[in-house]
Amino acid sequence: TDSLAHLSGVARRLAAGDLQARARAGAPQEVAALATTLNEMAAQLSQTIDSLRTEQARVASILAHMADGLLMVDERDHVLQINNAAERMLGVSAGEAPGQSFTQVARNHEMTECLRQAQTSRREQTRLIEQSGAYRFVRMVATPLQAERTGNFLVMLQDLTQIRRLETIRRDFISNVSHELRTPLAALQALAETLNDGALEDLPAARRFVARMDDEVHQLTKLVDDLLDLSAMEAGQAPLALRTEDIGAIVRRAAERLQPQAERAGVALRVDEAPPIAVRADAARIEQVMLNLIHNAIKFTPPLGVITCAVVQQDGHVTLSVSDTGVGISAADLPRIFERFYKADKARSGGGTGLGLAIAKHIVELHGGQIWAESEPGKGTTIGFTLPAVQ
Ligand SMILES: Nc1ncnc2c1ncn2[C@@H]1O[C@H](COP(=O)(O)OP(=O)(O)OP(=O)(O)O)[C@@H](O)[C@H]1O
Ligand SMILES: [Mg+2]
Repeated sequence: TDSLAHLSGVARRLAAGDLQARARAGAPQEVAALATTLNEMAAQLSQTIDSLRTEQARVASILAHMADGLLMVDERDHVLQINNAAERMLGVSAGEAPGQSFTQVARNHEMTECLRQAQTSRREQTRLIEQSGAYRFVRMVATPLQAERTGNFLVMLQDLTQIRRLETIRRDFISNVSHELRTPLAALQALAETLNDGALEDLPAARRFVARMDDEVHQLTKLVDDLLDLSAMEAGQAPLALRTEDIGAIVRRAAERLQPQAERAGVALRVDEAPPIAVRADAARIEQVMLNLIHNAIKFTPPLGVITCAVVQQDGHVTLSVSDTGVGISAADLPRIFERFYKADKARSGGGTGLGLAIAKHIVELHGGQIWAESEPGKGTTIGFTLPAVQ
């Protein structure tokens, strides 16, 4: 009976959750057999519980790391469970939501309404919801958990803000391209019509019109070339031909090419003296950046102004800059000038499409550098960028 008392003691400890409890083999034989069975059962139980714990931890970690928000709500609208993403999206602190009502936790009447509809119809409901305070755009899906037969609902929240932003960018992009195409096309059409309507007979006038048609075609070609260039770079299909180059030579070459234009515009174009500095760069691409920066400076600087190109080496990188004494860029426009098609000053842009700086930014970043702009309206502008120096 002593051994029996021992066995029932062990059984009680097991029942209470102490899965380490094991029975001593005792006599008589039947008791010994019982002890073995009890121990086997204990081992089995502890294994099962271990694997359940692992499984549960796995599910919990999936829920915690999911990008989508998930909540389980019972039939009385109380939140039973909520994951990190949902806490973040609804702005509740960790562990605060369980026990509160969904209405309280969501604080958004459209979300409450969506859950209500799912409950009434006992069918899945989907809704696109704007969380105005959080500037977030969310898709909510409320699903009855039929398999559970409990009246519980699963609420899923997907953050679509980024996707919507991309959608807006795409739409703006298409409307910008269409607009930029339409302007030269309309001009070409008008010029062709004028020629047809008799201007052809007037040779000097005809020559002028044809020259203007040529300009418009040039502008169309530049637009298409720039667009192809940008999309190739964005798709990673414009590999750089990196070589060790003297950066000063690239800057001087770009300045020389634009010297005649600067003279025609009545502005002085200077390149600061600098010792030879080696960089790893695609010379043609960096020249393209410099040409756009200098060309911009010429366009936006009135006669008698000065444009200065400078190269400075400092801790591990080289800084190139183009400064002008021109009209400048307002603080409101400054952060946007690197966007595709952005033109702060349409009148002076001289038929530019607003792609130049977007392309420049891509090229600089492909080189591992950074580009920025500083400006004081009425005083002038400096656009600078860095390139990693060769050590
Ligand atoms: N040096 C500058 N001074 C004043 N404004 C500038 C200067 N550089 C750029 N900007 C402003 O930034 C805008 C964008 O420049 P960006 O080079 O991208 O386009 P763009 O010169 O108008 O056209 P594109 O270069 O495609 O022919 C310009 O339209 C202008 O408003
Ligand atoms: Mg430009």
